[in-house]
Amino acid sequence: QERSYIMIKPDGVQRALVGEILSRFEKRGFKIVALKLVHSTKEHLEKHYGDLKDMPFFPGLIKYMASGPVVAIVIEGLDAVKTGRAMLGATKPLESAPGTIRGDYALAVGRNICHGSDSVENAQKEIDLWFPEGIVQYTDDKATWIFEN
Ligand code: GTP
Ligand code: MG
Repeated sequence: QERSYIMIKPDGVQRALVGEILSRFEKRGFKIVALKLVHSTKEHLEKHYGDLKDMPFFPGLIKYMASGPVVAIVIEGLDAVKTGRAMLGATKPLESAPGTIRGDYALAVGRNICHGSDSVENAQKEIDLWFPEGIVQYTDDKATWIFEN
């Protein structure tokens, strides 16, 4: 099964949306394979958002992301990367559809609640960056009711 790295950003934690967001991924059918609360360093976040380092909003983005703890999550399931992104909604809240996490809870692009990997390749890099200790293995008994064989 495919994996994606999902992160609840500091505004999502401060606004007490952790349970709500986790619940959406659980209810959709994804298996939570890793989960932790971390107050990340700027150095670590600069690695995570390395592709955006030349963007004008980069310093503000790093400051925002380092302003409080985030919840680091790895989900596993069918098409986890694309479906995970669809559940987040578009980057800009003006374009994010109601029913998506951003479309339901965010108004500003620079305070958009959550992150999701944008490709399978980047998901693997982000999982390695945020979970260098590795991921717990366990059997998910509900899987037979969620996936076709
Ligand atoms: P992530 O899941 O966080 O990676 O968002 P994304 O993939 O939807 O967008 P992208 O990777 O292009 O940008 C990363 C983050 O930078 C966004 O989620 C926003 O928080 C922030 N960001 C992107 N564009 C802008 C912008 O124009 N202005 C500001 N202030 N922030 C932006
Ligand atoms: Mg991105």
